[in-house]
Amino acid sequence: MSNPERGYRLDRLYPWEVQKGLSTRFAGHWIEYYEELPSTNQRARELAATSPPEGLLVLAEKQTAGRGRLGRSWFSPAGAGIWMTLLLKPPVFPPGELPKVTLLAAAAVARAISAEAELTPLVKWPNDLYLDNRKIAGVLAETAGKAGSPWEYLLLGIGINVNQVSTDFPGDLRQKAGSLRLSLGAPVDRGVLLRRCLAVLEEEYVYACEKGFVRALAYCRQYSFILGRHVEVRDGDRRYRGKAVAIRDDGRLELLVDEGGKTVGIAAGEVSCLSRTGKEA
Ligand code: BTN
Repeated sequence: MSNPERGYRLDRLYPWEVQKGLSTRFAGHWIEYYEELPSTNQRARELAATSPPEGLLVLAEKQTAGRGRLGRSWFSPAGAGIWMTLLLKPPVFPPGELPKVTLLAAAAVARAISAEAELTPLVKWPNDLYLDNRKIAGVLAETAGKAGSPWEYLLLGIGINVNQVSTDFPGDLRQKAGSLRLSLGAPVDRGVLLRRCLAVLEEEYVYACEKGFVRALAYCRQYSFILGRHVEVRDGDRRYRGKAVAIRDDGRLELLVDEGGKTVGIAAGEVSCLSRTGKEA
C-alpha cells in the first residue's frame, strides 16, 4: 500500500517477514508486534514481569505515548520509523552501567545505519544519533524485572526516524528532526534495517558482556557529534559549559570548564552545542 502524499510505502514490519533472514542467535527470535501501543518500553516493562526469554522484541508501527529521556515525548507516527524495545538479560548488570549500555546501543544503531543506508550518523552523547545536524534516532535504556529483582532485564528502547519527509513532523520538530530518507534522498526498507539493527545490537552486547564496553565507546568517540565542540550540559538544576574533550571509559562526558585545565565528568544530561559566542548553535 503506498501513500502518495507522504511518498513512502505504508508497509508493515510483520514478525514473520522480519524474522526471514534474521541472522541473530536470540535477538528478535520472539517478537510482540502491535499496530499501535502507548510505548514499546512500557509494554516491555509489563512483559519483564512474566520472565520472557532474552531477545524478546516489542515492536509497534505507531506509539501514542512514545517516551524519550528526561520525561520527553517521542513522536512515533505509523509506518514511518522503527519503534522498538529489545529485552536483554545480562549475566551481571550493575545499574551504574546504564549510561554505557545507552552508548553501546547508539553505536550499534549507527553502525547498522551505516551498513544499510550508507550514511554515517554521529553519536550525540549520551543517547542520540544525528545526521545533517538533525536528530534521527534516540535510545532509552531502562531496567525492569519482577518485584524484588528490578535489574533483571535491560530494556533497550530505540526509535529511528526512517522514512519521514519534513512535513510529517509537527511544527516544533521540523527544524530539529531528520530522517534517513531526508538525508539519503530515497526511502529505506525498514525491515532490512531492523534486521541489521538486531544483528549489530546482539553482536555489540555479546561482545560487551565478554570483553567490556571498550569497542562501543571507541565508536562513540570516533563518530561523536560533540567532541571538540563547546557545549552546555543541563543535568536537572545544574548547568555546565565547556569544551567536550572526552568520553571516559565509564561513559561520562568530560568537559574542560576553564582555561586552567579544570575538567568535570558528567554522568547524564542534555547537551546543546554552543557557537563561539556562547549562544546555542
Ligand atoms: C530520547 O531521544 O530521549 C530517546 C527516545 C527513545 C524512543 C524510543 S521509540 C521506542 C521506545 N519506546 C519508547 O517509548 N521510547 C523508545
